[in-house]
Amino acid sequence: MALLKSTKVFVCLGNITPSLGVMSARNSSWWGGVQMGPPDPILGVTEAFKRDTNPKKMNLGVGAYRDDQGKPFVLSCVRKAEALIAAKQLDKEYLAIGGLGEFTKACAQLALGADNEVLKSGRNITVQTISGTGSLRIGANFLSRFHGGSRDVYLPKPSWGNHTPIFRDAGMQLKAYRYYDPSTCGFDFNGALEDISKIPEQSVILLHACAHNPTGVDPRPEQWKEISDIVKKRNLLVFFDMAYQGFASGDIDRDAWAVRYFIEQGHNIVLSQSFAKNMGLYGERVGGFSVVCKDNEEAKRVESQLKILIRPIYSNPPMNGARIATTILNTPDLRALWLEEVHGMANRIIKMREQLAAGLKKNGSTHNWQHVIDQIGMFCFTGLKPEQVERITKEFSVYMTKDGRISMAGVTSGNVEYLAEAIHAVSK
Ligand SMILES: Cc1ncc(COP(=O)(O)O)c(C=O)c1O
Repeated sequence: MALLKSTKVFVCLGNITPSLGVMSARNSSWWGGVQMGPPDPILGVTEAFKRDTNPKKMNLGVGAYRDDQGKPFVLSCVRKAEALIAAKQLDKEYLAIGGLGEFTKACAQLALGADNEVLKSGRNITVQTISGTGSLRIGANFLSRFHGGSRDVYLPKPSWGNHTPIFRDAGMQLKAYRYYDPSTCGFDFNGALEDISKIPEQSVILLHACAHNPTGVDPRPEQWKEISDIVKKRNLLVFFDMAYQGFASGDIDRDAWAVRYFIEQGHNIVLSQSFAKNMGLYGERVGGFSVVCKDNEEAKRVESQLKILIRPIYSNPPMNGARIATTILNTPDLRALWLEEVHGMANRIIKMREQLAAGLKKNGSTHNWQHVIDQIGMFCFTGLKPEQVERITKEFSVYMTKDGRISMAGVTSGNVEYLAEAIHAVSK
């Protein structure tokens, strides 16, 4: 049969004479054993949304900020920084393996605070990474290769969906600690403490620095303090994921509080940062990975190994986004404008939370929707069950992930009432 098919091609092509070698290569398959994989849970939602023709449809799946007209938002500070960079006519030479030096310095200062003792004594190493995902992966690879303790990494339950494959593909063993309490739609503080207190010593614990994804539930400062104590008692290595600094409360220092507190308490943390959300630099892929070390000498050794790790993966990171972020962070006017704009984005989301909760009440919902207001950052864990999510999508064209998570960034003054009606209809 295969031979017949090839013969037909041969006849059609007439004067082109394929060699037997080419024919058999075309007809053989190297990938016959490759199974069809499932679609990405979040990008799959977007695909379904695109196919929907309902003019009222809403995509609350993807975690990218939208303005109040539902449009992607480029910050003015970014546009201005781009103009400044363009005017300089800079070259396009490769960056160093660890990225743009000015960027990594500003990135670490943003997270830790410019006058942090760690930075002053040079006992950190920060490398530029391919946004938060790349940072987590470099971090996971580094732990997998060098963490003398255990290969176990404990994630909050639930955590950002990509954490699992990032750590698993790097060769770490995935474990979990309780985090979210569905009965209160809030933080399961006691459950978390109990589970953390049983984690074997020298394991790795992943903590979301602020605006926990997907739940929007963060520990309060006094709860962070207890977590820090227990983590110290268990001698755990802390991996902070900070993808939303500034985006949670609108205040970059407040959102970095937990990271700075842990360092103050003597935890030599590792830290992943992303500039996707707080500067709206999603596709520019700007991030940082930091290791806080015992001293400068240790930091130098760690740096050398991070470079050895990065070099065969992508050689060196892209420059454009790092230049934008650096220009914003290091130019006082642009930095001030950025802080205003971050505040503006965070506030719009907070307003949408309040309007959604008020809308549900107005529709006559008798459930307690306080969690919609109390949760922090881009996401809201509505508490809708999978069958309710299915209904809201089918009947109202409101798209969200199966776990009932909605991106508040996709809610606007124009569609918040419709969303409240839809949630009420499927939850009453
Ligand atoms: C918790 C968390 N960490 C890391 C990231 C990484 O994002 P990016 O790779 O776009 O910076 C995200 C993005 O959604 C996130 O929610």
